[in-house]
Amino acid sequence: MAGANVDTVKRILVLGPTGTIGQAVVRALLAAGHDVACVVRPNRTEIPDALVGAAVRYADVSDPEALRREGFGEASFDAVVCCLASRTGHPADAWAIDHAATVNAIDAAVATGVRQFVLLSAICVQKPLLEFQRAKLAAESALKHSGLVYSIVRPTAFFKSLSGQIDRVRRGKPYLMFGDGQATACKPISDGDLADFIVGCLDDPARQNAILPIGGPGPAVTPQQQGAWLFELLGTPSKVRRVPFWFMDGLVAVLSLLGRFSHRVADKAEFARIGRYYATQSMLVWDDAAGAYDADATPSFGSDTLKDFYADVINKAETVDLGDHGIF
Ligand SMILES: NC(=O)c1ccc[n+]([C@@H]2O[C@H](COP(=O)([O-])OP(=O)(O)OC[C@H]3O[C@@H](n4cnc5c(N)ncnc54)[C@H](OP(=O)(O)O)[C@@H]3O)[C@@H](O)[C@H]2O)c1
Repeated sequence: MAGANVDTVKRILVLGPTGTIGQAVVRALLAAGHDVACVVRPNRTEIPDALVGAAVRYADVSDPEALRREGFGEASFDAVVCCLASRTGHPADAWAIDHAATVNAIDAAVATGVRQFVLLSAICVQKPLLEFQRAKLAAESALKHSGLVYSIVRPTAFFKSLSGQIDRVRRGKPYLMFGDGQATACKPISDGDLADFIVGCLDDPARQNAILPIGGPGPAVTPQQQGAWLFELLGTPSKVRRVPFWFMDGLVAVLSLLGRFSHRVADKAEFARIGRYYATQSMLVWDDAAGAYDADATPSFGSDTLKDFYADVINKAETVDLGDHGIF
């Protein structure tokens, strides 16, 4: 255990500890001095360095009995932090993981006397047009009605999801953006800042029994601004290719039509819908009355900025691990 710097050391069970945010959360929990256990897949062989210092339990999150027996076990946890997410974004996988496995965890928490549950969700569920968003909303609803003290954390965009073009611009290819690159915006949050926010939910009453949209520091950022930063930091002249919005609509329409005859193409149609969603919707709090996204109403947290992150990646000539679903 890292040096304890919290008043009360808590016993925390983390689900999805091997993902981008899960690893950051385990690091932050250990750094805060908590006693951490992690549930990983039964067949997992490699354990990320971030989990060193935590107890590792092997359990199938899709099997309620196994999760309760091998994941939760006899230990009585003070809280569960759930960072589970479908690796593919495929509708069936989203319902299996973002919903069913998450509900298994909520049920096991209730059954074993856990008091508190922190759930990593996403800000985009406020305007649910996609299957994975509906699955997440259903899990949020189960948690709200579980009787547990809940924190539903809905972050805006992660740094990794806004880093997909560093390599192509570095190689001299044009930066791609929809329209003029100013139709959408987000308040990017780093893995570390988000993890600190999530860990803070354990002790801050203002973050309990609440749905918490959360972004990073500073003003909202558009795709146009992100491209401008890349050109500035790489010291290359601006080279942009604008993709018309109708291109995405056309792609979705064609794939949806062909998807009626092939499951494989139907899956591609869903991924195209996900792409169109992020090309056209801001990752900011939605103001229903105004019928618009509201950057000022989107809370800021932390100190890491996307521009500094880009500078770091570029200076160290690194590549960013975009994960299996970088576009989320
Ligand atoms: N990207 C963004 O900009 C953004 C913004 C806001 C919210 N979000 C939300 O954040 C979440 C993604 O977080 P992330 O990037 O940290 O996810 P991630 O890196 O893909 O991690 C997913 C975690 O879930 C586990 N998992 C997935 N399927 C599993 C299964 N069948 N059995 C057991 N474990 C399974 C993974 O375990 P394995 O390592 O064993 O696969 C991993 O620990 C999503 O819910 C997304 O909607 C993302």
